[in-house]
Amino acid sequence: MATQSQTHLLAGDVKDLGLAESGKRKIEWANQQMPVLQLIRKRFTSEQPLKGVRVSACLHVTSETANLAITLRDGGAEVFLCASNPLSTQDEVAASLVKDYKIPTFAIKGEDHTTYYAHLQATLEHKPQITMDDGADLVTALLTKRADLVPGVIGGTEETTTGVIRLRAMAKDGSLKYPVISVNDALTKHMFDNRYGTGQSTIDGILRATNLLLAGSRLVVAGYGWCGRGVAMRAKGLGADVIVTEINPVRALEAVMDGFRVMPMNEAAKIGDIFVTVTGNKSVLAREHFERMKDGAVLCNSGHFNVEIDITALEQLSNGKAIARPFVEEYAMKDGRRIYLLGEGRLINLAAAEGHPASVMDMSFANQALSAEYLLKHAKDLGRQVYAVPDPIDRQIAKLKLESMGVQADKLTPEQEHYLASWSEGT
Ligand SMILES: NC(=O)c1ccc[n+]([C@@H]2O[C@H](COP(=O)([O-])OP(=O)(O)OC[C@H]3O[C@@H](n4cnc5c(N)ncnc54)[C@H](O)[C@@H]3O)[C@@H](O)[C@H]2O)c1
Repeated sequence: MATQSQTHLLAGDVKDLGLAESGKRKIEWANQQMPVLQLIRKRFTSEQPLKGVRVSACLHVTSETANLAITLRDGGAEVFLCASNPLSTQDEVAASLVKDYKIPTFAIKGEDHTTYYAHLQATLEHKPQITMDDGADLVTALLTKRADLVPGVIGGTEETTTGVIRLRAMAKDGSLKYPVISVNDALTKHMFDNRYGTGQSTIDGILRATNLLLAGSRLVVAGYGWCGRGVAMRAKGLGADVIVTEINPVRALEAVMDGFRVMPMNEAAKIGDIFVTVTGNKSVLAREHFERMKDGAVLCNSGHFNVEIDITALEQLSNGKAIARPFVEEYAMKDGRRIYLLGEGRLINLAAAEGHPASVMDMSFANQALSAEYLLKHAKDLGRQVYAVPDPIDRQIAKLKLESMGVQADKLTPEQEHYLASWSEGT
């Protein structure tokens, strides 16, 4: 087995180490917007809570993730990193992580299916004691292809809604073999990252890819969950006529009361100019929808996997495709219409833009770092289940974020505390 210094010589697999300088600047820029993570990093550096712990992380390799990896490393961990999506890597960041920060990183933007999984395997060669996932691909690869590693794993963390759904299914049928903390379920994660982060960066991705004017366009958002609410809110702010599709009646009702039109996708397909899927489900845009769409309709996805748009059906209905612009494919439909697919149906905010702003990832990754520390202290008391981030961690992150923004919240007076804790007080 390689020692730490030997593993650091196995620098990883990145596009071009010559890109490192611009990657380093990006990482430092993001760091300035991540005050909560900075505080954690400072404490980790002096306390070394992760000393000698091998962490394998499968996350979007962005400048924000780089700051998380550096924080874990400064807390004493030996970190290996690979991408959680073939199109989400920032190659300059990956290069800098290897060259400047000596963190073995296996990620190349646009890597094919085989390379993507080879990179996951390379990260597992590190024999992780903690896994960090965004979409549960690493834990799945570990459990199915490297089950020999299970006894050495202390626990894992999971970043996103889709990953948590997969992990809960594993826990239910007994396939999950170690405790995993659902970072996504922390309030300081999904209420901000999924809503404001995905909201802003999805619009950013659409605009960078197409340069379309949203004002006056009909934008259809499929799924009114945390991400969908954010996308709908931001598109409305830019003057789009936003239509929502949902399968959950409560969320559909919420969308109506938030001022959006709600209708079945079969209806929305006929009138939409731009379609955004954010459901975590599959074939949300399918053959019957493509058949109804207007000439020039633009489709994109911001849900975790590229299965929300049925690309096979789109291909079957077309005579072929051509690149219209970077991240924009024009499908020539057999009946003469054109349909445009952005970012190959992969998360558009990471494919065509830079993912979430650092300020919001500050809280998500503070949850990741503190959850790793929590796992080390408490894993022996945890089973093979998915666990929430403990409430005190969530509150501490919110408190630190407020402080960094110079915002003060009120505190309960002793009288109020007593009142709220008592059932005997009344009129
Ligand atoms: N792009 C990003 O950077 C980013 C960030 C966070 C989460 N995500 C991913 O986005 C997806 C959504 O996450 P979320 O936190 O909003 O989840 P959520 O569970 O809060 O919301 C998903 C919504 O989609 C609805 N839905 C399911 N199937 C549908 C269908 N066929 N038609 C219409 N609506 C349907 C559900 O009822 C639910 O309201 C997940 O895959 C998640 O992993 C992406």
